[in-house]
Amino acid sequence: MTDTNDLVLCDIDGRVAVVTINRPDKLNALDGPTRQRFLDLMNELRHDDGVRVVVVTGAGDKAFIAGADVGEFEGRSAVDQYRVMNEPTIFDCVDEFPKPVIAMLNGFTLGGGCELALACDIRIASTKAKLGQPEINLGIIPGGGGTQRLPRLVGMGMAYKLLFTGQIIKADEALRIGLVDEVVPPEELRDRVMELAGVIAEKSPVALQLMKQAVRASVRAPLDEGLRLETTLFGVAFASEDKTEGVAAFLEKRPADFKGR
Ligand code: COA
Repeated sequence: MTDTNDLVLCDIDGRVAVVTINRPDKLNALDGPTRQRFLDLMNELRHDDGVRVVVVTGAGDKAFIAGADVGEFEGRSAVDQYRVMNEPTIFDCVDEFPKPVIAMLNGFTLGGGCELALACDIRIASTKAKLGQPEINLGIIPGGGGTQRLPRLVGMGMAYKLLFTGQIIKADEALRIGLVDEVVPPEELRDRVMELAGVIAEKSPVALQLMKQAVRASVRAPLDEGLRLETTLFGVAFASEDKTEGVAAFLEKRPADFKGR
């Protein structure tokens, strides 16, 4: 029997946690136990003050995540599927996570895998990554936010093109349409992502959390509401010890040492 702890691994490297979906034989397809383990792990990381940035990736050199485990669809009733999808989801967990989450796309990023990447804050892909929403080929639609987050990122026309056709695109095309933010050779992927995560991990955790909350509002709220929220959150940041430290460090010409308070 598989130890469910092995389904998702976690390495802590300084202030950065690397969370790895670990079903390489199944191209890291997401089944129920894997999703649950991911949620449990993320809940631990959420409360770990030592961890300031999370990187999500897939085990092996072939896939980030090749989607939901299609094997689970066979024979499952619509009612059971509805219940599964109304449990707390990995997509909402990442989207709402109070710390930055970076997707490190090392290969196939399909279906629910693409949706998990969409829910992350930044996507860095290797040149080997291939992305798409192939649900249409199974006679279904994305259920992890793909119909909502994809058009917000790449525009409606491009989203329709990908969703209607199920076409799988290469990393450079994903970069061109804004689906990923950077593409690097496979052998440089981890170093580049850790470098980026390391830069972010030095910033104020308070400001990062507030910033994420404000930016998330930009695709949800009307402009006036988003601007009001920004002003309110600015006030919170202004009252933080991190702001006192950041301003003092600037004036004293030294690096800031943010404590997240
Ligand atoms: N669910 C369950 N198993 C999956 C899977 C998924 N989404 N994606 C891949 N696998 C499994 C395969 O069944 C195979 O298992 P097996 O060795 O026990 O037969 C293993 O992973 C390797 O995949 P394989 O198809 O042999 O690799 P490939 O290089 O020939 O093709 C893909 C790669 C990604 C093109 C192909 O696996 C694929 O189309 N996967 C499904 C993608 C999808 O539709 N995702 C959306 C689901 S909603």
